[in-house]
Amino acid sequence: MRKKIVAGNWKMNNNFNQTKDLVTELKEFNFPKDVSVMISPAYPFLKTSVDLLQDSSIKVVSQNIHQKNNGAYTGEVSSEMLKSIGVNNTLIGHSERRAYFNETDDVLLEKIEFALNNNLNIIFCFGEELSDRKSNNHFKLVKTQLDNTVLKMNKESWKNIILAYEPVWAIGTGETATPEQAQEMHEFVRNYICECYDNSVSDNVSILYGGSVKPSNASEIFNKNDVDGGLIGGASLSAKDFNLIIEANSSL
Ligand code: 13P
Repeated sequence: MRKKIVAGNWKMNNNFNQTKDLVTELKEFNFPKDVSVMISPAYPFLKTSVDLLQDSSIKVVSQNIHQKNNGAYTGEVSSEMLKSIGVNNTLIGHSERRAYFNETDDVLLEKIEFALNNNLNIIFCFGEELSDRKSNNHFKLVKTQLDNTVLKMNKESWKNIILAYEPVWAIGTGETATPEQAQEMHEFVRNYICECYDNSVSDNVSILYGGSVKPSNASEIFNKNDVDGGLIGGASLSAKDFNLIIEANSSL
């Protein structure tokens, strides 16, 4: 059975005190038991977040990892380092990493391999640009993004993989994909995963939607069959809004 998940990607927002305050505020909520909640603060605050959340079910996720274990890679952070501070999850392939930091499919494949080999769970992000959608190339593009990366992993690895479909044109723009557009892509991806492996993989992988999800549109998106939750940017910076989005994903 696949899990319902809501994850907050805080991106490059919140200083130390703001991070502590938001984590502390989130801890106070009684989140529904059927939704797994994750947050992704900036690197310097991951350890503090893990410590503050010791007695909580909220999981801490890193926003990125480097594709090597250790060594002369100034400014980078490895899977092993994250594990050593109790971070067991990482985002990989966010469109901002692809666009601003030149992360190609080849680099992302290395990152996925390193993360999985170090027993990190990954949330792998993918999605098309507006131009791809306008030229009706979005399914082909997403298929290629997945073929070049996660679909190279063996069947066993999929218990540690979560997918996040984030159409680039919907990120931070206020323009959300319609629930139908999200469902159509999620269904396409799930069917394709079934073709590549079998339904023991496709039925169990959680596929999140990301891109301008807010309390007012969350439930209609999450109600779609193949949408298992959300990866939330802007709205996850408000504890109140994030909680409403989490509640929107609960069936309890
Ligand atoms: P917004 O929710 O701000 O559109 O960001 C989505 C996102 O990029 C999450 O990773």
